[in-house]
Amino acid sequence: MKTLSQLSALKDNKEKISMVTAYDYPSAKQVEAADIDIILVGDSLGMTVLGYDSTVQVTVADMIHHAKAVRRGAPKTYVVVDVPFGAVGVNDQYDLEIAVKLYKETDANAIKAEGAHLTQYIKNCANLGIPVVSHLGLTPQSVGIMGYKMQAGNKEAALQLIEDAYAVQQAGAVMLVLEAVPSDLASEISDRLDIPVIGIGAGKGIDGQVLVYHDLLNYGVEHKAKFVKQFGDFSVGIDALKQYNNEVKAHQFPSDAHTYKKQIMNEVSE
Ligand code: KIV
Repeated sequence: MKTLSQLSALKDNKEKISMVTAYDYPSAKQVEAADIDIILVGDSLGMTVLGYDSTVQVTVADMIHHAKAVRRGAPKTYVVVDVPFGAVGVNDQYDLEIAVKLYKETDANAIKAEGAHLTQYIKNCANLGIPVVSHLGLTPQSVGIMGYKMQAGNKEAALQLIEDAYAVQQAGAVMLVLEAVPSDLASEISDRLDIPVIGIGAGKGIDGQVLVYHDLLNYGVEHKAKFVKQFGDFSVGIDALKQYNNEVKAHQFPSDAHTYKKQIMNEVSE
């Protein structure tokens, strides 16, 4: 497993950092086998595997359930687990209890929290020894306010994002995820910050990239954002399922090759 300092060294050496989401044991095994640097157990699991229309419905119990499976599938990968909507911003004690629970029960390496308003939370977690990855730009948990669209598209918002990025680093964030922002702004932030900056829809001039597993593999996705590149096609599974269905209906499956042929009934009826 790459440690945080090894991941930071990649930034220092101008080597790119790869991150991808995973939500269960088999996807985590695949990501680890592909030698990806970081797994994000994203609350995007609300849409990709639970069928909700946003991340807002995802619970702490959902995150823990999926992150534990991911850890079993990828014991040697740096794992970051999302703090879901409503699990932070209540009060300091509640927020920290949930942070400890998420970190401890999932055996993750860090937690990730959305929003620039969480500097005190990042500090409190850091004081307890919990590494926090900050997530700025488009923060899907605030979809009801910001929608799914590019952020920081004017001068004031761009300056604010730079300020926020400094603030979360200053508070102790160990990494920053930047989503859906202009690429020149993202590069500038990445250059200015000491911590690794990982982008999704933030161009290639930053320290690393993250994509959602289901998006990059076309696995049950209905909508593809501009910044998603499809690297594989798991929709071929539908053809396999159709063939299975046809073979069952046509009395073709199972064939002898998939059948235990030992004759036992003669012995039973003796
Ligand atoms: O939940 C998630 O998958 C994320 C990525 C989009 C960065 O936060």
